[in-house]
Amino acid sequence: MSAVRGEFSSRFGFIMAAAGSAVGLGNIWGFPTQTASNGGAAFLIAYLVLAFFLAYPALMAELIIGRHGQANAVTSLKKISAHKWQKHFAFMVGFGGILCAGFILSFYAIVAGWMLSATLEPIASVVGLNQTATWLGEQSLIRNVLFTLIFIALTILIISRGVENGIEKWSKRLMPALLLILFALIAYVMTQDGAIEGLQAYLIPDFSSILDANLLVSALGQAFFSLSLGTSVMIIYGSYISKKENLVSLGAYVTLIDVFIAFVAGLLIIPAMYVAQAQGVEIFSATGELLSEDTLVFQVLPALFDGMGNAGLYIGFAFFALMSIAALTSSISMLEAPVSYTVERFSVKRLHATWLIGALIALVSVVIVCNLGSLFGLVITITTKIAQPLLGLMCCLFVGWIWYRSSLLKAIQQGNPSVHNTLFWKIWPWYTKFVCPCAIGLVFLHSLLS
Ligand code: PHE
Repeated sequence: MSAVRGEFSSRFGFIMAAAGSAVGLGNIWGFPTQTASNGGAAFLIAYLVLAFFLAYPALMAELIIGRHGQANAVTSLKKISAHKWQKHFAFMVGFGGILCAGFILSFYAIVAGWMLSATLEPIASVVGLNQTATWLGEQSLIRNVLFTLIFIALTILIISRGVENGIEKWSKRLMPALLLILFALIAYVMTQDGAIEGLQAYLIPDFSSILDANLLVSALGQAFFSLSLGTSVMIIYGSYISKKENLVSLGAYVTLIDVFIAFVAGLLIIPAMYVAQAQGVEIFSATGELLSEDTLVFQVLPALFDGMGNAGLYIGFAFFALMSIAALTSSISMLEAPVSYTVERFSVKRLHATWLIGALIALVSVVIVCNLGSLFGLVITITTKIAQPLLGLMCCLFVGWIWYRSSLLKAIQQGNPSVHNTLFWKIWPWYTKFVCPCAIGLVFLHSLLS
């Protein structure tokens, strides 16, 4: 099987693909809005600590399971299971993750569709298609369905080309483009009135709220979503890494890039909110809470861009193009999870599997779009607040309790022969065995109870 399996052709290719999966709407939109609604810099600090001390070890668990198994999530988890019950458990966790990835894609594609139409809107205005521009800018069922489907089709087109020519090639193109646009936008926003006030809110912490349980729950959820954990995505990406690579440092790079981009996105979005506020847009309530967190992007930012006159059209285009690119490098990883499983489990051709699963997910998306009020929030809650932390926790249990330690060490030593002498090996196995499951479990319980 390994002869026909795809593999990332380079270290850089893997880092771009995995960071591409991690960096998405969660970083560029989710993180800054969560930061703004959870007390600014205090949330940032909690997020940084949780990302490095809980999400990174959990990411390493998923990557090593995949790299060792060299197969889709279900098969990889089964390979480290010795007993029958463990194999059943492996199926539940692996398949659960695949389902979770599929459902995340079904709502993610809707939001990404909004981003796509918002990218086209300024273009329509520039070329004088004013009616089209208005249509693109207003919520309507037809527009939402159309752009959700276009976004899923783009995702399918990339995934049907496989690992090296699809995922890797496009991640290597799109990720640097994303960084460029992000920095250009920050440079622009910093020249506007109100930006400095935003920077202060973002960077000067109010330490009193840092141990607030709700803040910690949101920060951990955000870190898990952002690193694409508990969806079997990182298991499958891990399985495409060569055994010659040092997994410990690769995982660290991916975490660093993900956290860095979230941090940098905060430098754009939070000052942009204050700039918009300086221009008269209402952003915070009288008590200092962020108003309408999820739709803010389509209210505040267009208002901000409008205030900039003609330049606003171009900046608006760049901003929403940035969001669309970030969404695409993430959505391809979500689709890869079920596709890789179907290809390997049922020996179906990749092209057929991709279109079939893509069509199924599109169907679910359309059902959600038609019932936005009742289904959208529900699917987000079930996948990101319940399934992701639980499945991430179970991957830690696999590595900590089911996988034999000597065999785990051998797997990590590939590409990193002296790992047993490093601080990583002294801390991580014990850490994934006790600390990660307990901490994730506690946070999960808290979020259920509240
Ligand atoms: N990490 C992506 C983001 O931040 C979302 C994602 C979740 C991607 C789960 C893959 C799997 O937007």
